[in-house]
Amino acid sequence: MESTSLQSYKPKIISEQRRKIEDLCRDLIVNNDHIHVVEQRLRQAIDKGLGKESHAVASVKCYSTYVRHLPTGEEKGQFLALDLGGTNFRVLLVDIGENKQFNMQSKIFAIPQHVMIGTGEELFDHIATCLKEFMVEHNLESTKLPLGFTFSFPCKQLGLAEGRLTTWTKGFKCSGVEGEDVVRLLQEALKRVGEHNIEVCAILNDTTGCLMSCAWKEPKCRIGLIVGTGTNACYLEDIENVELWDGDSGEPRHVIVNTEWGGFGDNSELDFIRTKWDEAVDEGSLNPGKQTFEKMISGMYMGELTRQVLVDMIWEGLIFQEKDTDKLFEWGQFLTKYVSEIESDMVGDFTRARKVLEELGIKDPSDEDMSAMRYICELVSRRAGFMASAGITALLKKMDYHDVVVAIDGSVFRYHPHFPNIMRSRISQLMGIDYKFDLMLSTDGSGRGAALVAAVLTNQEQQRKQ
Ligand code: GLC
Repeated sequence: MESTSLQSYKPKIISEQRRKIEDLCRDLIVNNDHIHVVEQRLRQAIDKGLGKESHAVASVKCYSTYVRHLPTGEEKGQFLALDLGGTNFRVLLVDIGENKQFNMQSKIFAIPQHVMIGTGEELFDHIATCLKEFMVEHNLESTKLPLGFTFSFPCKQLGLAEGRLTTWTKGFKCSGVEGEDVVRLLQEALKRVGEHNIEVCAILNDTTGCLMSCAWKEPKCRIGLIVGTGTNACYLEDIENVELWDGDSGEPRHVIVNTEWGGFGDNSELDFIRTKWDEAVDEGSLNPGKQTFEKMISGMYMGELTRQVLVDMIWEGLIFQEKDTDKLFEWGQFLTKYVSEIESDMVGDFTRARKVLEELGIKDPSDEDMSAMRYICELVSRRAGFMASAGITALLKKMDYHDVVVAIDGSVFRYHPHFPNIMRSRISQLMGIDYKFDLMLSTDGSGRGAALVAAVLTNQEQQRKQ
């Protein structure tokens, strides 16, 4: 069994019930051997995604982003950015001035549930209307502005400003968008609402934004990772390894590749560690059979996974006996933020955990129940951290560099109290102590990163014209 800090949260006297819970939950424990297999299979899946012949059947698609220039720190100008990828979307106005002066104004707009699963036209009309509203609020109606569009879904890019959505992920399911160029859909919606001054000059994934935003300050940054609602990573790859590369072959000889590693496991690569609870989460999701790796790691699913385990333990008569657990029996009621809150309590203290249970209508739980619930949360979040670490290790081992900074963002990484530590220690264990790497929280990749991609492009264009 893996030695983890889990041991420290065990109650002093182990009851028969607790022993049974630990026994029933042991499938959630991934050991070093498992992690090695995950890492190796992921590397193979990445190679498949990059290969001309194997790409079509690969679970990890490795799309070229066409972003080849990392920021130098000299970028300047005024840009709009649009960030779509979670339950909200944001519009940003970004000013990059002399000496890395950065000024950002933004507004968050909600996306109503019916729009997330409605028609594509409705979705893009909603976005265009909000963009227009933002332009009016900032007196920008008559200013021509380039826009970087952070669209955090798998896209087959055909250029910097052309990306076809391959499949929706993370709770979105708008009709008529899959297979289409989302830049064109946005541009058409902007026309429909009478907004003619915005030119969408780049589409990018949130991982790319995350990498760019960090690389702007830290030149050793080569990988961008998101562990939020979904999970995904991008990295800088040599063009000669991207067999489907169709851009020019001049300098620089590398390009950012969006792995879309959330799909890892869709070809059964992870069946050897998937549990019945993972299967239940998958079956109840909007995209069964897809995004297997993502469903074992990310925030959209972590709470639900924990709930599935808790419900089983209730059925087994091992936790929350004779309590009102009706709410816990409803799909989606155990939020991922609860996992973070429960694990934020000091060992042996259950203050936050009690609040969580209050929200769920479970009254006067015993300390033993609290401790067991925490144990289950830890199993789920540690497994997620280990799997994400296996992913980063796979990428680090692929690269020639030996001192790499990994830019990371996303709600799980930010708000789960132990996630950064779990990842740091696990990656250094997997890479060996001689290997130097660093994990850096990348702030506002989707906004700043989008502006930087737009800025790098504008600079290049100006240079070409000179
Ligand atoms: C999902 C999307 C991917 C995105 C990730 C993190 O996996 O498919 O494009 O980067 O979520 O937001």
